[in-house]
Amino acid sequence: MTAPLLRIEALEAGYGAAQVLFGVTLDIEAGSVTTLIGRNGMGKTTTIRTVFGLIRPKAGRVQVEGRDLAGAPPYRIAQAGLGYVPEGRHIFPRLGVEENLTATAASRQGRSAWTLERVYQFFPRLKERRGNLGTQLSGGEQQMLAIGRALMTNPKLLVLDEATEGLAPVVRAEIWQVLEALKREGLAILVVDKNLEALARLADRHAILEKGEIVWTGTTPDLKAPGGPIERYLAF
Ligand SMILES: Nc1ncnc2c1ncn2[C@@H]1O[C@H](COP(=O)(O)OP(=O)(O)OP(=O)(O)O)[C@@H](O)[C@H]1O
Ligand SMILES: [Mg+2]
Repeated sequence: MTAPLLRIEALEAGYGAAQVLFGVTLDIEAGSVTTLIGRNGMGKTTTIRTVFGLIRPKAGRVQVEGRDLAGAPPYRIAQAGLGYVPEGRHIFPRLGVEENLTATAASRQGRSAWTLERVYQFFPRLKERRGNLGTQLSGGEQQMLAIGRALMTNPKLLVLDEATEGLAPVVRAEIWQVLEALKREGLAILVVDKNLEALARLADRHAILEKGEIVWTGTTPDLKAPGGPIERYLAF
C-alpha cells in the first residue's frame, strides 16, 4: 500500500499552556477533495497551521507521501508539495500583484506546471491588476491572488482556510468554480469552509472537527443523510 498524500495522526497542539488539538487524525489521498468542517473555535485553523509548521506540535505525526514532517519549518512543508491559502489571505501588502505571485513560487516537473502565464489565464482579473499593490485589490481579488500564489508553488495538495469568508455571493461562486476546475485537473484539495452546500457539491470526503478531535468522517451522501452529522455537530 502506498502512503497517502497527507497523513495527520494523533496530532496535539495549542497555544502556550492552552491545548487545542487533542489527537487529530486524518488521511488525504492524491486527487481527492476533502473538507475539514466544524463550528467556530473547534481547531480547524490550528490543525492547518500545525500541519504547515507554523505551530509546533506537542505530539503526533504529519507525513507527506510517507515522509515525517511534524515540526518541520513552513518552507519544507511547501517543498514537500503542500500549498497554503491562509485564513485572512495574508497578501504581502508592500508587494505588487506579480511579486505576490512570484515571491514564493517554485517550479516542478509535470505537464500542468503553474506559471505566471497560466495563473493569469485562470484569473484574468489578476492580469488586469498586475501593476497594483496587493492591498489595492478588492477582497475577492485578494482571495484569487492568495490562491494564485499557492498554485505558483506547484502543490500536490492545495489547502484553503475560509477562502470564501466575507465575500459577496457572486465572488464566492467564482471561488467555488475555480476549485471545481482545479479538482477536474486532478489537484488534491483540503478545504475549510462553512458553506455546507458548496462543500457537498465539491468534495468527496468530509471530516468534522469538534473540540480538537475528528469526530466523524464520511462521504457526501453520509454527510447529508437525515439525522446525520450536520444536525449532531454542525448547528452553526
Ligand atoms: N493565537 C492564538 N492564541 C491563543 N489561542 C488561540 C489562538 N488562535 C486560536 N486560539 C484558540 O484556539 C481555539 C481553536 O481556534 P481555531 O482558530 O483553530 O478555530 P477554527 O476552528 O479555525 O475556528 P473558526 O471557524 O472561527 O475559524 C479557539 O478556542 C481559539 O480561541
Ligand atoms: Mg479558522
